[in-house]
Amino acid sequence: MKRGKRLPVHVAIIMDGNGRWAQKRGLPRIAGHRAGMEAVRRVVEACPDLGIKYLTLFAFSTENWRRPPAEVTALMGFIGEYLEREMPSLMKNRVRFSTIGFIDEMPGYAREKIAWAKEKTASNDGLFLNVAVNYGGRREIVEAAKRIAKKVKSGVLDPDDIDETAFAAELETAGLPDPDLLIRTSGEMRVSNFLLWQIAYSEVYISPVFWPDFRKEHLEAAIQEYLRRDRRFGAVDLEPGETEGEESESQTVPRYT
Ligand code: FPP
Repeated sequence: MKRGKRLPVHVAIIMDGNGRWAQKRGLPRIAGHRAGMEAVRRVVEACPDLGIKYLTLFAFSTENWRRPPAEVTALMGFIGEYLEREMPSLMKNRVRFSTIGFIDEMPGYAREKIAWAKEKTASNDGLFLNVAVNYGGRREIVEAAKRIAKKVKSGVLDPDDIDETAFAAELETAGLPDPDLLIRTSGEMRVSNFLLWQIAYSEVYISPVFWPDFRKEHLEAAIQEYLRRDRRFGAVDLEPGETEGEESESQTVPRYT
């Protein structure tokens, strides 16, 4: 392994292939999502062992409302079901649960479970589990721009002070490091409106595995591939003095030239 390689601090995953997994088995799509929920449990449990501190999962996009109503209802229910069922394990592993996305537009039963889980896990200091629900990257950017425009209009912000840091602070992910590694399962090579701003310098890894089949070994394979990559952030080489296997949040600070 090359010197200077560090484990990814923040991994973001586009969990894809639930429908095809189910179809292959002659099952309804919803059965694929249920199996996908098990994969979420496995991956969340695997993160601490692999040094991952932040995990962002794309569970429901602003475009997913176009799916059949029964599938939408099932997906909303699964998020709550997962939280309720996994709460003892989340607490035991000190997982802090959070979300990005337009939660206010979700059905009450899902909103309530999400609020409950956030409150219950708020002081946990283990894995930061961030679930994107009713999330869309373009809309997130538009909403951030609106907030900035309002601040300018009210005189709180000078347009000359708008820089990347100020803009990022208005995004749903304010305060989180950008993902180091973006994984998409099921072989699809699209970003699908996920974390458009935040993945500017993320390494992308496409796994051929359908999400319900995704296991710790697949996450390990993604990390191994990540460690083989040469992250330059537009510069020419790694900073001197970085040592193999070191793990630090500082890796999320890009080294621009
Ligand atoms: C994409 O597969 C998957 C989704 C839109 C939903 C992911 C949701 C879960 C795994 C359920 C629970 C989530 C949490 C966080 C507990 P697809 O249906 O688009 O698959 P296809 O491309 O094969 O049709």
